Amino acid sequence: MVSTRFAGLARRGLSIMDSSMLARLGRTGSIIMRRLSLAGLHRTAAATVLAFILTCGAHAATEVELEPAGNDPDNINSLQRGARNFMNYCSGCHSAKYVRFNTLGRGLELSEDQLVENLMFNAEKTFETIQAAMPMNDAARWFGQPPPDMSLIARARGTDYVFNFIKGFYLDPDSPTGVDNRVLAGTSMPHVLWELQGYQTADYSIDENGTEHFEGFEQVTEGSLSAEEFDEFARDTVNFLEYISEPVRSTRRVLGVWVLMFLIVFWIIASMLKKQVWKDVT
Ligand code: HEC
Repeated sequence: MVSTRFAGLARRGLSIMDSSMLARLGRTGSIIMRRLSLAGLHRTAAATVLAFILTCGAHAATEVELEPAGNDPDNINSLQRGARNFMNYCSGCHSAKYVRFNTLGRGLELSEDQLVENLMFNAEKTFETIQAAMPMNDAARWFGQPPPDMSLIARARGTDYVFNFIKGFYLDPDSPTGVDNRVLAGTSMPHVLWELQGYQTADYSIDENGTEHFEGFEQVTEGSLSAEEFDEFARDTVNFLEYISEPVRSTRRVLGVWVLMFLIVFWIIASMLKKQVWKDVT
C-alpha cells in the first residue's frame, strides 16, 4: 500500500522533474551541483541527491487540497449509520481487528439484538473483533496488497483524507480497476460505492511547468444517492472510522474535565494550607 503510494508520488515527481524542472534548475541548481561535486562526490551521486531533494519538493508541491470532512464523533446517530455503512460496504475487504462488537455496541448505544441483526454479519459472538470477510492471502494476490486494517486508519491518514479518498474515485481507462483516486494515485482499491455515487471523471489542467492541477469532478452516471446524500454517507463512515480509532475519546474528555476540577479544588486547599502554615513566619 505504502509502496504504491510512493511509487505513484515518485513517478509524478520524477516525470515533472524530467520534463521541466531540470530545465528550470537554472543557477541555483548548477551551484548546488557544483558544490556537491566540489565536496568530492561523483557527478551521478550529486545528481541523485539533487533528484531526491527535488522529488521531495515536487511531492510537497503536488499535495492535494482536501475538502474538510466536518464529522462529529459525539453524534451517535451518525456513528450508528457509519457503522452500518462500514459493515455493509467495507468489511468485506477491510478488517478492524482492534474493535470488538460488544465494545462497539456499548459505545454506540445499541442493544445486543440490534448489534447482532444490523452489524454482525460475519461474527457469531459479541466479543469477536471485526474481521474482513475476505481471506487476506487471496486479497493480497487479487489487489496486489491486502486492504489495510481500518482500526486506526483515521488517525494514520486523517479524517479529511479518508473523506476525500471515499469521494475521490474517478474513471481511468488505464487502470486495472477502471478507476483511479484523486488523493491516492494508482490505488488498487476498486470504486466499491459506484452504485451509490455513480461514476465521475476528473478534470486536470496542466500548467506551463507541466504540473497537474485538479479542477473538479464531472458526473458521468448517476448513483442512487444525490451528491449531498453521498457526502453524508461518506461523512458518517469517516465519523465511524474516527470513533473506532479512539473509542475512549469522550470518556477521556469527561475525565479531563474532572481532573482539571480536582486540580483547581486541590490548589485552593493547598494555598489555604500554605497560608495557615506560614502565617507566623515573617
Ligand atoms: C473490494 C475490496 C475493498 C472494499 C469493499 C473496500 N476497500 Fe478500501 N481498500 C482496498 C484495497 C485493496 C486497498 C489498498 C489500496 C492501495 O493501497 O492502493 C484499500 C485501501 C483503503 C484505504 C487506505 C488508503 C490509503 O491511503 O492507504 C482506505 C481509507 C479505505 N480503503 C477505505 C475504504 C472504505 C471506507 C470502504 C467502504 C466504503 C472500503 N475501503 C471498501 C479494497 C477494498
